Amino acid sequence: MEKKLSVDHLLGIKDLTKEDIELIFSQADEFKEVLNRPIKKVPSLRDITVANLFFENSTRTRLSFELAEKRLSADVVNFSASTSSVKKGETLIDTVNNILAMKVDMVVMRHSAPGSCLFLSQHIDAAIVNAGDGTHEHPTQALLDAYSIREKLGSVKGKKVVIVGDITHSRVAISNIYCLQKLGAQVMVCGPTTLIPRHIEKMGVIVEHNLIKALEWCDVANMLRIQLERQDVNVSYFPSLREYTMQYGLDKKTLDSLSKKIVVMHPGPINRGVEITSDVADSEQSIILDQVENGVAIRMAVIYLLAQRRRTAE
Ligand code: CP
Repeated sequence: MEKKLSVDHLLGIKDLTKEDIELIFSQADEFKEVLNRPIKKVPSLRDITVANLFFENSTRTRLSFELAEKRLSADVVNFSASTSSVKKGETLIDTVNNILAMKVDMVVMRHSAPGSCLFLSQHIDAAIVNAGDGTHEHPTQALLDAYSIREKLGSVKGKKVVIVGDITHSRVAISNIYCLQKLGAQVMVCGPTTLIPRHIEKMGVIVEHNLIKALEWCDVANMLRIQLERQDVNVSYFPSLREYTMQYGLDKKTLDSLSKKIVVMHPGPINRGVEITSDVADSEQSIILDQVENGVAIRMAVIYLLAQRRRTAE
């Protein structure tokens, strides 16, 4: 019997089982093979229409979803808040209901409000995929990150992963913690006290404020940018960007001084010279572009599996 996801929507990694994640990975393996063929397209979703609703800026996630949908032969409509009637005061639910009246089966949404994807899933009849909701979750990023670790190191189980930077304002960090732990990795977070949520140890992660100690501990370092757009403008989280870089930026000298070769990741967008220097981002230890490549296969797998579940429920 064909395996199915345990969920109707992808709202967050928290809702997925380990088996769901493994199913997404094995489906992504098949789609990765398709993406390496001369004709990178399959007819699987010819009966499905997907709306990509982006209320926040995006380069990678938006392009990756659109490409994934087109590689599966789905019909695709794109919506950008900056050029829509949201600017004229239309609510989220009215916007989405209008799009659904055009017979859309699936909605991929990025929004600044945590919980907005859950809200949508409770009010409309379409499969919802969270492409990042405020500081809450960014599930497909975590899936592609873990998939890239599995590809590079053979498995995620037993690996030590440190997430460095602005953990407090990062949906990528939260989704990564859930995903990596479900797959059996050990997770550490590293950054200044002001950028690490209080009580995060309760999630089962190790907290380390010293970057060198964190890097010596890990197999993989996932370097995050400072999420300026989500920080409270009235709060100073560190004395200056220069001081942050001196303490938490990863440069080649530091990378080469470690007692083992670690894998370097970054979800993007990169602020070169702040959290990571160009020579590290472009080094052979970096898998940043593999993450982007794997994002298409992972998103194809997520969309395909959610569509399969929706078809069998009808
Ligand atoms: N990693 C990520 O979400 O990048 P974008 O904001 O460009 O989509």
